[in-house]
Amino acid sequence: MLQIIILAAGKGTRMKSQKAKVLHTLCGKPMLEYIIEESLKLTKSVDVVLNFQFDKTSEIVKNYPVNIVKQNLEKFPGTGGALKEVKLKEEKILILNGDMPLITQEELKKLSEIDADIVMSVMKLKNPDGYGRVLIQDGDVIKIIEQKDASTEELKIKHVNAGVYLFKKEVLEKYLPKLSDNNAQKEYYLTDVIEMAVKDNLTIKAVEVDEESFKGVNSKKDLAVAEETMCKRIKNRWLEKGVIIRLPQTVYIDAYSAFEGECEIQPGSVITKSVIIDSEIKANSVIEESVIKNSAIGPMARIRPKSEIKDSKIGNFVEVKSTKLNGVKAGHLSYLGDSEIDEGTNIGAGSITCNYDGKNKYKTKIGKNVFVGSDTKLIAPITIEDDVMIAAGSVVNKNIPKGSLAISRSPLKIVKNFYYKFFGKEQ
Ligand code: UD1
Ligand code: CA
Repeated sequence: MLQIIILAAGKGTRMKSQKAKVLHTLCGKPMLEYIIEESLKLTKSVDVVLNFQFDKTSEIVKNYPVNIVKQNLEKFPGTGGALKEVKLKEEKILILNGDMPLITQEELKKLSEIDADIVMSVMKLKNPDGYGRVLIQDGDVIKIIEQKDASTEELKIKHVNAGVYLFKKEVLEKYLPKLSDNNAQKEYYLTDVIEMAVKDNLTIKAVEVDEESFKGVNSKKDLAVAEETMCKRIKNRWLEKGVIIRLPQTVYIDAYSAFEGECEIQPGSVITKSVIIDSEIKANSVIEESVIKNSAIGPMARIRPKSEIKDSKIGNFVEVKSTKLNGVKAGHLSYLGDSEIDEGTNIGAGSITCNYDGKNKYKTKIGKNVFVGSDTKLIAPITIEDDVMIAAGSVVNKNIPKGSLAISRSPLKIVKNFYYKFFGKEQ
């Protein structure tokens, strides 16, 4: 069997963040989770090395059937130091950096099937900045020089180490204890194994790989580039499954959303942790943690978490939160929060559920075939039974029984010729 070791203990200083680097997300999902999931598709023997923000990182890793190893970062810092505490179990060991979220199972499989003492991944880049440079002479790898240790001449090398290696177990057993921290970063570099192995005439195969999948994420700029690639992959997957996405480059769909049946997503929309079934999401709408079925949403609507919208039409500038809508029309400028609204009900423009009194949130329940006139304020907790009409501009603070009209109006006063008196103008 193959053993995979994922290195994820580092601080990620270049990320300039309080959060551990591997917990930063692409399309809503932490980088580390992508790489763990791809690894588990290949083997059951996966070790993840953690240290920086151990509690937070291990909380996520614990959800997977992998072995967590804690690096002794103070004593043995660096990618080589990360391996000190890991039990080397299998004959072939694939080592991955935890900051490579775009790598796929297929690519890992290809590398792991090559026969050599060491297989390493190499990329030829126009801009090699940030990576370790690979010194190659007459087609043979000689050594890896870390950017911070490289001379001006060495920095010009375009071949870089992509950060995935396949080792025979005995190679690691022999060379890991020999690593030293005699370098610019005072770290134990895994990459130094290569030079020692070259000197001992071991077989080293360098496989050229593609940066699109092997990109290492060190900074927020790298994160943005990697997220674009991931987001494109996610959208391509849904396009292939039959979702219509208009101008996909303008649409954001996170890693946790799903589509069923015939769906259309218009430009500028953002969909996170939601399930969309047979629905149309019109331009510039935001859907978060909700289920939308057989409905049309937007343009410019915001559906916030825990909403369930079925057989409904939601128009522009409508905000919905923790609300169940079943066969409802809310065409314009409304806030529907902590509500349950039933079939055939129409919510007029500007109507609002007043669900919060500054301390607590309260529920609004509206039955079937209710006509809520424009600019109605529904002061929760409140129940509006079936077949009710509410006159425009009403403030409703009592439950309304079935079949009634509810109307609250301050009387309209008309002062004749006021305009002319006020401005002192002739009529
Ligand atoms: C590393 C390689 C570099 C290569 C690049 C590819 C080394 C010394 N350098 O550099 O040649 O071009 O990856 O992306 O390996 N980590 C630990 N413990 C540590 C330090 C790091 O687990 O003490 C983990 C990090 O969390 C990270 C991974 O190892 O996931 C790589 O570390 P990072 O600092 O990003 O290495 P690079 O400088 O990118
Ligand atoms: Ca890196």
